[in-house]
Amino acid sequence: MELTPVGVLGTGRYVPDKVLTNQDLERMVDTNDEWIRTRTGMSERRIAAPEQAASDLSLPAAEQALKNAGIRAEDLDLIIVATITPDMSFPSTACLLQEKLGAKKSAAYDLSAACTGFIYGLANAANFIAVGTYKYALIVGVEVLSKITDYTDRNTCVLFGDGAGAVVIGAVPEGRGFKSFDLGADGSGGELLKLQGGGSRCPSSAVSVEQKLHYLYMAGSEVFKFAVRIMGSSAEEALRKAGLGKEDIDLLIPHQANIRIIQAALNRLHLPEEKCIINLDRYGNVGAASIPMALAEAVETGRLKEGDTTVMVGFGAGLTWGASVLVL
Ligand code: ACO
Repeated sequence: MELTPVGVLGTGRYVPDKVLTNQDLERMVDTNDEWIRTRTGMSERRIAAPEQAASDLSLPAAEQALKNAGIRAEDLDLIIVATITPDMSFPSTACLLQEKLGAKKSAAYDLSAACTGFIYGLANAANFIAVGTYKYALIVGVEVLSKITDYTDRNTCVLFGDGAGAVVIGAVPEGRGFKSFDLGADGSGGELLKLQGGGSRCPSSAVSVEQKLHYLYMAGSEVFKFAVRIMGSSAEEALRKAGLGKEDIDLLIPHQANIRIIQAALNRLHLPEEKCIINLDRYGNVGAASIPMALAEAVETGRLKEGDTTVMVGFGAGLTWGASVLVL
């Protein structure tokens, strides 16, 4: 079967207005600006308004991606929303977004692969288009992590922020587009990063709230060790599948979880920091939104131009990981 080359037609991003700085956090928990900057690389993050949910953050990012792609919402065949902070368990945030956009003919579903969700979503949608099932797809990575963060726990509350990134994908000329995907999972690490409350094992109750099970739990240093190992190896695997080498990378777009994790990936790939987009200083870890927000920023600021080769790579709860080589 002849496969259609599939690539990015347009990108978009959105962050809420409210800024939470390291100095603000100093007044909330026993932490300090120096610790946060040296241990994580973060200075500030954006926080959604109380009335803002995932679909609200997704909408402006999706509209911008559609505009940049020159595609009408009605032309979309598929919407995938990657998130661990949906508006609600069901209906899916993708269906809520479909309604807000007026994308009447599109199929719509959410995808749960935590911070790797956007790469998983791209792989899903790209395959539908490559085999001719669909023509245009919208993939959104969005998180409202502030709503599942315990702002009395200094181990986690300094790390997370809110935002959305979106891409429209479709057919591109030969030679451009997605060259490979590397997706993986290791369920044995499921305990390291989780939100227990509200699911079928531990339904929401006064007890689940009292035990703070509605907040994200993370074994930070275990996740850190896994991330340092997997970011480099997944990027290398995606390059190998694409038949490319480290020297072919114009820009690395890593999941923005910790500057030290990114530096470890850069070392392994023998890349200087100029070949990497870093925005965690301004946005913190925005989960599934982190990579598409960085991609949209790279395109907007001209750091990534048509014909450039980028490797997007991420990891997250599950544990999951994923990388993709894209020629813009
Ligand atoms: N301010 C000051 N001190 C702190 C803070 C803070 N905000 N947080 C932790 N500390 C203290 C700890 O209590 C500990 O003190 P102790 O030695 O007296 O016990 C000390 O700092 C060192 O703690 P570590 O956990 O060893 O610090 P580490 O260097 O590992 O950094 C961090 C912690 C930043 C969380 C790091 O482990 C990390 O980035 N992990 C990966 C996180 C990640 O990528 N998560 C992905 C989630 S994405 C998703 O799927 C939702």
